[in-house]
Amino acid sequence: MRNVLLVVVLSGFLLSLSGIAKAEVDAKKLFKTHCIPCHGEDGKGTDLGKGLGTPDFTNAEWQSTKTDARFTEQILNGSEKMFVFKDKLNMEEVQALVAYARQFAKK
Ligand code: HEC
Repeated sequence: MRNVLLVVVLSGFLLSLSGIAKAEVDAKKLFKTHCIPCHGEDGKGTDLGKGLGTPDFTNAEWQSTKTDARFTEQILNGSEKMFVFKDKLNMEEVQALVAYARQFAKK
């Protein structure tokens, strides 16, 4: 009887752990997969990106003119030059990428 109880408690614990792992979004990896071709590993923009007119994410002054809502909107719906990502990313992932784009200017 005690063993059964232990198993129930343990599996509940493991389930909650896997839930945490799933909720954790790897923004760096997402950025690498979807954004680096244009925005570059350093956020300054690749040649391809600059050709299209990507902003320099490391520019704190530029960052301060943009709200998180604007960034979120851009990532979800794209623009004439940037892809739409709302089919590929969930809201949690988009928010993690907004924060990731922000941190380039914080160095
Ligand atoms: C095909 C090239 C391309 C890819 C891929 C791309 N972007 Fe962009 N992004 C651009 C360009 C070009 C701009 C400049 C604004 C515009 O004209 O859309 C931009 C602008 C932005 C902006 C600033 C929006 C603003 O209000 O000025 C953010 C934030 C952004 N991108 C995030 C991302 C994220 C996050 C990803 C990956 C999920 C991504 N981009 C992938 C080309 C790209």
